Amino acid sequence: MKVLVSGGTGFIGSHTMVELLNAGHEVVCVDDYSNSTPLVLGEVEKITGKKVIAYKENLCDKAKTLAIFQKEKVDAVIHFAGLKAVGESVHKPIMYYDVNINSVISVVEAMSKTGVKNLVFSSSATVYGTPESMPINENFPTGGTTNPYGTTKLFIEKILMDYCHVNKDFNLALLRYFNPIGAHESGLIGEVPNGIPNNLVPYIAQVAVGQRDKLSVFGDDYNTHDGTGVRDYIHVVDLAKGHLLALKKLEANCGLVVYNLGTGIGYSVLDVIHAYEKACGFSIPYEICKRREGDIGECYADPKKALEELGWKAEFGIESMCESSYKFQEMHPNGFEKK
Ligand code: WQD
Repeated sequence: MKVLVSGGTGFIGSHTMVELLNAGHEVVCVDDYSNSTPLVLGEVEKITGKKVIAYKENLCDKAKTLAIFQKEKVDAVIHFAGLKAVGESVHKPIMYYDVNINSVISVVEAMSKTGVKNLVFSSSATVYGTPESMPINENFPTGGTTNPYGTTKLFIEKILMDYCHVNKDFNLALLRYFNPIGAHESGLIGEVPNGIPNNLVPYIAQVAVGQRDKLSVFGDDYNTHDGTGVRDYIHVVDLAKGHLLALKKLEANCGLVVYNLGTGIGYSVLDVIHAYEKACGFSIPYEICKRREGDIGECYADPKKALEELGWKAEFGIESMCESSYKFQEMHPNGFEKK
């Protein structure tokens, strides 16, 4: 298939492009590089030995987005593009609703005008808000999101479901990610957060290479096995492979499908610190601090449905997630740089 990947130079987008190219798909990357760099394209081509057709474009520009669809005649779209910092979204809600929602509307309008009927959307476990129990399956109610970023994912899911409802020949896969971490085994691509990392593992990675003094552990009084927050960390390569199986499902004209992409295993902050220490070979300094506003105690997936319907199961364990993260961080202490 010829697949348009929006936000393809981002963390999950770049790893998905690698898997698409390795599987023989043609890839068109559309990215404005506002949260990434075109240098990633060269790394993806180095890993796969294949070329990516790339456009630097803001997907909110409807005319320019349509022109790309008219020119490239793709078979499917995987939509990653969007703003994704939970903390930033609290302070800049209008920017998040504008960018995340309007980019999707622009893409879907272009798909409609050019007869493209297959869409995979990068959603998030945050659409479940604060679930009543664990593990989370796809029948759990959505809503009660605790930040504008999560609410944009919730709104976009509803917009796409409504579109699907009136376009019976449209195929849509909503993939709800849990906590993606790690990096490609080559160490050539990985996660490069802007500024101070919001997320746990990128922060630990910077502590491990000496860029940060110590990790603040946000609370140790949760109702979990060691009091610290529990999450379902999933290797970004496992996540990327899930997208290819979702594409296959769309090719079979499945209509609307929804999958949780997680391992089904919950690890606490202290568990991750210990796993990272094993990966890097030395201790990670940390300090127990107060809870972070908006955090929930635990969140992990019931991944049964993706296994039954996609034949997808996460393969990598927490050790390889940490090892690959550390390898990438060591190779890129200052992110992607012009060589
Ligand atoms: C994980 C755990 C923190 C940082 C967010 C988004 C979600 C998804 C993944 C996109 C929590 C603790 C963290 C730190 C800490 N992103 N922590 N010290 O909040 O589960 O999910 O990222 O889809 O949508 O909401 O991930 O990595 O920020 O936190 O103790 O410096 O680590 O309290 O328990 P989170 P996270």
